Amino acid sequence: MCGIVGFTGHRQAAPVLLDGLAKLEYRGYDSAGIAVRNGADPVETVKAKGKLKILREMTDEGRAVSGTCGIGHTRWATHGEPSVTNAHPLASDDNNVVGVHNGIIENYQELKDKLLKSGYSFKSQTDTEVAVKLVDYYYKKYNGGPIDALARAMQRIRGSYALVMMFADFPEEVYAIRKDSPMIVGVSDGESFLASDVPAILKYTRSVYYVGDLEIAKLTKGGVTFYNIDREEIKKDPTEIKWDAEAAEKSGYEHFMLKEIHEQPKAVRDTINSVLKGKKIDLSDVGLSDEDIKSLKQIYIVACGSAYYAGVAVQYVIEELTSLSVRVELASEFRYRKMTLAKDSLVVIISQSGETADSLAALKMAKASGVKTLGIVNVVGSSIAREADNVFYTLAGPEISVATTKAYSCQLAAGYLLAIQFAYARGELEQSEYERLLGELEALPKKIEKALEDKERIQWFAAKFSSVKDAFFIGRGIDYAVSLEGSLKMKEISYVHSEAHAAGELKHGPISLIEQGTLVVGIITQGSLFEKTVSNMVEVRSRGGYLMGLTSYGNYSVEDLADFTVYIPNTDHLFSASLAVIPLQLMAYYLSCAKGLDVDKPRNLAKSVTVE
Ligand code: G6P
Repeated sequence: MCGIVGFTGHRQAAPVLLDGLAKLEYRGYDSAGIAVRNGADPVETVKAKGKLKILREMTDEGRAVSGTCGIGHTRWATHGEPSVTNAHPLASDDNNVVGVHNGIIENYQELKDKLLKSGYSFKSQTDTEVAVKLVDYYYKKYNGGPIDALARAMQRIRGSYALVMMFADFPEEVYAIRKDSPMIVGVSDGESFLASDVPAILKYTRSVYYVGDLEIAKLTKGGVTFYNIDREEIKKDPTEIKWDAEAAEKSGYEHFMLKEIHEQPKAVRDTINSVLKGKKIDLSDVGLSDEDIKSLKQIYIVACGSAYYAGVAVQYVIEELTSLSVRVELASEFRYRKMTLAKDSLVVIISQSGETADSLAALKMAKASGVKTLGIVNVVGSSIAREADNVFYTLAGPEISVATTKAYSCQLAAGYLLAIQFAYARGELEQSEYERLLGELEALPKKIEKALEDKERIQWFAAKFSSVKDAFFIGRGIDYAVSLEGSLKMKEISYVHSEAHAAGELKHGPISLIEQGTLVVGIITQGSLFEKTVSNMVEVRSRGGYLMGLTSYGNYSVEDLADFTVYIPNTDHLFSASLAVIPLQLMAYYLSCAKGLDVDKPRNLAKSVTVE
């Protein structure tokens, strides 16, 4: 979960590298560094602890480091604390090889011991230094050049890596290898770029190559050559990125998160329209036929973080519309659980980045056991998208803020569409009901817009509660699923201790934590469960809790109970998560702002978690 960049071309490299790293800072921000070289001159390396801003200032925005070829890194610490010594780039003892790395090298201790015996010494606590020195070792031992040394290193290294290196004997060239960590390459007008993610190079080119697992890339000025682990040259076609560079900028919003919250109506509309063809859902691009759907007996939804919470909501929708049984699983648990996957089942992996290590491992496990897999993924060409049998792309566009908003909303929309089509194809949904539900879905983006209009009241409420220490989110059914996401948003970016509970579970323990003034957010959008949740809110109020009610227009009786009530537009109860989540996102956002926190880059978190 670090960000890496590389460049070789005619202009000065440092500003290009720093600019690319700024776009990747969401991937990690506890230290950063660049290594730049001018022709055959020795490499100049500058590193700083803390956010990229410090490195930018140290190098006068890159102007103080001269050279047209270089690599850079923004770090989220795994091996070794955040420090200048552990920051990348890291070099071999004689600076023959200098490199940056994203991922985790699992057998680093074994490799380190081997290198120590061969006379290498280590300055940092990182696994990256081990990888760099291993490449240096093979380079010198076999004298076969960079491709040979990198191929040998790939054979020895276990774990995940996107490793980018420069070799002293090969000026103006950048080399890279990859396994299970993302890496893309772009070439334009005599210049070549490399990065962990598209936004870093979008300014220069929209035509990108996805480096595959166990592949090597060699970047020269305006050229790239790919090799497999057997050192054979391989041909690759570039993919055209459809987003514009603007989509990865703040466009006047104070934070990416606020911008992305406001992009939700469009993102959800685009996602729905991508499979809606003339009043019918058409999953042919996803690759799921009606025959496939009819044969299903069981669905497993597997994901991490907010994507998992989207899965929890979708589980209720699929189970209500179809006779299919659905299990939602945390990828980090699923991958190690010794469970037998039912025959005729579908494993659905939900992931914004398509790179989350646990989700990817769960996907591989499901495939290995012979079960059909479907990815609901936002990033085109990402590992999960490439690995899954079928892919439903959410069209959220680039999401930069660490706390997800628009990607989560698109995951919900994709889940609804699958649920409706599953029910319809299996003959479990009447034509008129199918059409009604599709109509409701198409109306959702406008209703999200309407929910966003209430933001000033929520801003006021967040300012009033800026010193809140604990918060509880409660709801039943789909409202419980939204509680989970609302609570996660709050703790992620406002650092408020928050918990979500199924409202009916409160009395089994959590209610003992309710004191005078404790903030409790009760979500009540599910008509059939309305009175049940209201009873639980009454129990909270009797213990002195401060109640915020979140319900649909029309349920005005909530005001008699709650201290503060927020209304969302009416929709079919199955889709209410898409509207209820909006005020909760806004509340977390404004609370974080009121506390003066770094909204887009919360402490200790990273957007894309490519380590276990
Ligand atoms: C990280 C992010 C979360 C995200 C989760 C899963 O923890 O901070 O916002 O929900 O990873 O990421 P994915 O890319 O698989 O959706």
